[in-house]
Amino acid sequence: MATCNLALIGFGRVNRALAELVDQRNDVLEKECGFRLRVVGVSDLHLGSVMSPNGIDPRALTRAGSEKGAFSKISGGHAAPRTEQVIKQTPSDIIEATYNDGESGQPAISHCQGVLAARRHVITTNKGPVALAASALQGLVKENDVAFEYEGSVISGTPVIRMAKTNLSGVGLNGFQGILNGTSNYVLDRMEEGLTFVDAVKAAQEMGFAEANPTANIEGREVRLKVVILANELLGASLKPADVKLCGISPITASDVEDAKKAGEKWKLVGSASRDEDGSVSAIVEAKRLERTHPLAEISGVTNAIAFQSDLLGTAKVTSPGAGRIETAFAIMADIIAIHRGRTASTKTGAA
Ligand SMILES: NC(=O)c1ccc[n+]([C@@H]2O[C@H](COP(=O)([O-])OP(=O)(O)OC[C@H]3O[C@@H](n4cnc5c(N)ncnc54)[C@H](OP(=O)(O)O)[C@@H]3O)[C@@H](O)[C@H]2O)c1
Repeated sequence: MATCNLALIGFGRVNRALAELVDQRNDVLEKECGFRLRVVGVSDLHLGSVMSPNGIDPRALTRAGSEKGAFSKISGGHAAPRTEQVIKQTPSDIIEATYNDGESGQPAISHCQGVLAARRHVITTNKGPVALAASALQGLVKENDVAFEYEGSVISGTPVIRMAKTNLSGVGLNGFQGILNGTSNYVLDRMEEGLTFVDAVKAAQEMGFAEANPTANIEGREVRLKVVILANELLGASLKPADVKLCGISPITASDVEDAKKAGEKWKLVGSASRDEDGSVSAIVEAKRLERTHPLAEISGVTNAIAFQSDLLGTAKVTSPGAGRIETAFAIMADIIAIHRGRTASTKTGAA
């Protein structure tokens, strides 16, 4: 039976969940796709690294302590992250799930570049490499005949990119509108219940829906990266974040929310892009009032949704959980399957 070797860069929520899936879902994967997954390397800035060509017990990884250098206690482990060695020395697909720096895209872009240059497939859940460096990375993909997949970077587990690229081919896709950030949507919901903006943000933090510093979510910078990814991937644009006008939810007051309510409308943070008559694509992220009949108006809490506009289907909407460690790990599995299903015999690395 074919085995797909994986090396994980970053071992936080997402890659830890992937290790759990490797532990629990291999029988299903083997039955449905004809191969099993095996973790042969892990590198984490805090926990250290482990390399073992014959496979690392995923439970040893998930049960490792959370103290600095904890991986040194696992067989084949080391207290230092040794990221470069893990990338270069493990014959495997590399799963990049490190910190998201929305401004520079680092260190994730360098990781992806290093992996592709080493002629390995790379899968990332990180928005940075896709939104900020996709064309350079696709150049390396072509040069080295490898794959670069990133389904988890937009709506975690929901395969919107692959679905739109494959199943909406030929439909005449000419735009989309999305609620792409659960934190801001939750905050707006709570404001509708009467909370002030500040209290609604606090409530989101207490529920674990907002980071200690929620600025990137509230100001729409996180959504802007997702809009860039979707516009470039699905509408053939070449947008950079600076090309997308941004107006987040922080200026919205309780009385704005009350006014909208009285008019039968709802405030939402909407990220959208559309093809203009001259064929160019324009995009915007803005807090705006939506009529209750709008396809996105009733999307509540931390749920995400995208309404695709096309010539043949009109509006087609996808609604799903916008985040979640297991959901995002599933997106990685979907990417692995997309790479290896049907090409296990010919692939240079990974499944063999
Ligand atoms: N969680 C979700 O639901 C979700 C959904 C969609 C997309 N994503 C994206 O997926 C990525 C991972 O998310 P996460 O929730 O797993 O993040 P996380 O829990 O913060 O884990 C990231 C891990 O990567 C480590 N790391 C940082 N820089 C590194 C480096 N240079 N080499 C090796 N390890 C490094 C971090 O160590 P330190 O803690 O020491 O820095 C941390 O342990 C992010 O880009 C995120 O935006 C997450």
